[in-house]
Amino acid sequence: MADLLPVNPYRGTRDFLPEEMAVRQAVFSKFYKVIETYGFQRYDGPLLEPAEIYEAKSGREIADQQLYTLTDRSGRRLALRPEMTPSVARIVARFAGQLDFPLRWYSHVNCFRYERPQRGRVREHWQINCDIFGSESEVCEIEIFDLVHDLMAAVGATREQYVLRVNCRVIAESAMRHIVGVPEESLPQVFQVVDRWEKVTEEERVADLAEAGLDDKRIERLNEVLTGDGGFVDELPADELADSNIAKLLKRDERNLFKFDPLIIRAFEYYTSTVFEVFDTDPVNRRSLFGGGRYRDLAGLFTTQKIPGIGFGMGDVTVLDFLETHGLLPTPRIGSDVAVIPVKAQLNEAARTVTRSLRAAGIKTILPLVERSLSAEMKRAGRNGCRAAVIIGENEWHRRAVTVRDMRTGEQSEVPSDQVVDRVTQILQA
Ligand code: HAM
Repeated sequence: MADLLPVNPYRGTRDFLPEEMAVRQAVFSKFYKVIETYGFQRYDGPLLEPAEIYEAKSGREIADQQLYTLTDRSGRRLALRPEMTPSVARIVARFAGQLDFPLRWYSHVNCFRYERPQRGRVREHWQINCDIFGSESEVCEIEIFDLVHDLMAAVGATREQYVLRVNCRVIAESAMRHIVGVPEESLPQVFQVVDRWEKVTEEERVADLAEAGLDDKRIERLNEVLTGDGGFVDELPADELADSNIAKLLKRDERNLFKFDPLIIRAFEYYTSTVFEVFDTDPVNRRSLFGGGRYRDLAGLFTTQKIPGIGFGMGDVTVLDFLETHGLLPTPRIGSDVAVIPVKAQLNEAARTVTRSLRAAGIKTILPLVERSLSAEMKRAGRNGCRAAVIIGENEWHRRAVTVRDMRTGEQSEVPSDQVVDRVTQILQA
């Protein structure tokens, strides 16, 4: 006999059984509803894209270490999408001539990254992406942050349970130049250290900063900037902050909308100003629930037209971990409403007739797919969550009647077959 193939999925990917899928669906459908109340419209795109669209601006970590690449039969280099943003920028660029900007678009897609699987990190995750295209106004930031809070509220989270940490690369660069005194050529290296700030020890940080050319005094100033209350923003030259919507919001004291946090940098190269992440305040969940930012030039990979964008991706793994940690996972009922059970095979056609009428009324109805005794079918109906059973017996069917059983109370009665839907509906609504 040939060796059997493994049943386990590829490392870092997941199978979802119906029970788990029902929980996911209950959560995601709440998210879709909120997103649509903000006027976002759903789009989609391919899982496979030319590898270059990620190698251009998604950052070195994704491009060099995490991309799943393949070569097709004509020798084209492709990648499984590690994220949706380059694809949506491409789609928007492609149809720019016929789109009515500004756009509010969302998608829900699976993304692949070659990562070491750990809590909050897998190799195939699902991301809801929400992006606004065609506006540079700070109203977009407000909309996006409001949306984040409403999404979290929709699944029962309170403001104490998570934090929306926001920074701006324009502010960060200006602060590095004017307050910390980082030489221009060291900026990328210093930002890399800041991006990993909370993931490494202080010793490692200091060593990395020294390597980037920062002396002790500058390192100290950097520490103050990163861990202070953001008061330094007022000291920065106003003309340098002209493109910073976050600087505008800070001036207007919109601080209850987000927490200004200079430690948020994000590794993606395409972000040009606003960057943000949402974290659980419970430290068991260290990975972000949402990550996003504003990108001025990403569509510029595909078109000469200027199409600015801002948006976020929200991951299924971290959101579900969050909900579990805070006792917020829903417990949806799965299974069917009604089982139609003919007492013998000759009544199968009658069972089909009754089943059709129940389904036409929108009632989730099952009928036996294998031959089993009435009692075995009744037990199965119970396990399936059915609240009613319709038993088709020979004598009743001659009278055009059936027996309807309320599975909770055990009560059963004979009902004319043209009143089955009404009787079942009564039971379901009780
Ligand atoms: P990101 O921060 O890489 O951003 O991912 C967004 C979210 O997806 C993360 O906060 C996390 O919840 C989830 N996520 C990412 N990688 C993994 C993984 N390996 N396993 C589990 N969950 C993961 C982006 O992808 C940007 N393209 C988002 C964006 C949209 N920016 C603007 N528009």
